Amino acid sequence: MKAVHFSTGGPLGLVDWEDPVPGIGEVLVKVRATALNRADLLQVKGLYPPPPGESELLGLEISGEVVATGPGAHRWKKGDRVCALLAGGGYAELVAVHEDMLMPIPDNLSFEQAAAIPEVFLTAYQVLVYLAKVQKGQRVLIHAGASGVGTAAIQMVRKIGAQCMVTASAGKHERCLRLGADRAVDYNKEDFEEEVLEWTSGEGVEVIVDVIGGSYLPKNLRCLHTDGRLIQLAFMGGALVDGIDLGLILRKRLHLMGSTLRARTLGYKVQLTNDFMRDYWDLFAAGELVPVIDSVYNWREAEAAHEYMASNKNQGKIILVIDGV
Ligand SMILES: NC(=O)c1ccc[n+]([C@@H]2O[C@H](COP(=O)([O-])OP(=O)(O)OC[C@H]3O[C@@H](n4cnc5c(N)ncnc54)[C@H](OP(=O)(O)O)[C@@H]3O)[C@@H](O)[C@H]2O)c1
Repeated sequence: MKAVHFSTGGPLGLVDWEDPVPGIGEVLVKVRATALNRADLLQVKGLYPPPPGESELLGLEISGEVVATGPGAHRWKKGDRVCALLAGGGYAELVAVHEDMLMPIPDNLSFEQAAAIPEVFLTAYQVLVYLAKVQKGQRVLIHAGASGVGTAAIQMVRKIGAQCMVTASAGKHERCLRLGADRAVDYNKEDFEEEVLEWTSGEGVEVIVDVIGGSYLPKNLRCLHTDGRLIQLAFMGGALVDGIDLGLILRKRLHLMGSTLRARTLGYKVQLTNDFMRDYWDLFAAGELVPVIDSVYNWREAEAAHEYMASNKNQGKIILVIDGV
């Protein structure tokens, strides 16, 4: 098969690569689309190696068609349209995936749209439902609201019956508000701490989903309600922080949680996928949840797509279409 390969820091380009062989319980999928994740950018820089035993190719999610089944795999047949979260290997013509990780693509969604679902919606589900246990009526602050993860989280918060405020550059507010955010803050001009406290009449929010970290952490702690939960998913603004008042964590009984997805066990990811499908999958067919796509590139333009993501201009997902070569 062909696949997108890179040498550390080097440009992305198509190369010949060994076909994956579906193992026990696995299904071979002909990839029709994949989507970019920030992790891909880090992996190219040599900063985010794949977990042991996983493909060294980029690509944490795909959509495509089943072309073969491995021993013991019985849930899918040739031609089924599916999408899935991967630990790697999505920037390729073929990928072997455990059959229990596959999700059937609703008829109303294209391959491009389906490739925009797995990573961000499973992350949002894990964060909001498993970890933060967001309840109806609660208030959630989502940093980088127009990011892939943010656009999925806004929609799921609304479905739970909670409210959310987002931080994002001003030009991205309209998208966030249309998806269901109650309020958007331009973090370049406004102080999100002041805005949160005004929005919540000084009470603070029950949950914060943060991918920025750095200088946001002390403010996040001050913005949380008693028993509030902060879920740290990334630290695009820095990993080391000064000025933390541990007294706040104690007095407000705060929960600080970190989370990752890629390195989780297969069993955990299967459970997550099943729970997400049980609770939310029908909403995609009903048009009540939508994959948010910023732009679509051909996979020969993977390098340009990576540069675009690095420029922080996207609102939602950047898709790579994998066509035959
Ligand atoms: N731990 C996990 O399980 C998990 C899962 C998925 C993703 N992640 C991580 O979550 C983060 C968001 O991923 P994504 O794919 O949703 O991102 P994305 O779609 O590329 O969006 C990132 C956005 O964050 C905003 N931003 C604010 N401050 C930033 C800064 N200092 N540096 C860069 N961007 C900044 C920018 O939008 P504005 O113009 O609004 O500033 C940027 O466009 C990534 O770091 C990713 O690795 C973690």
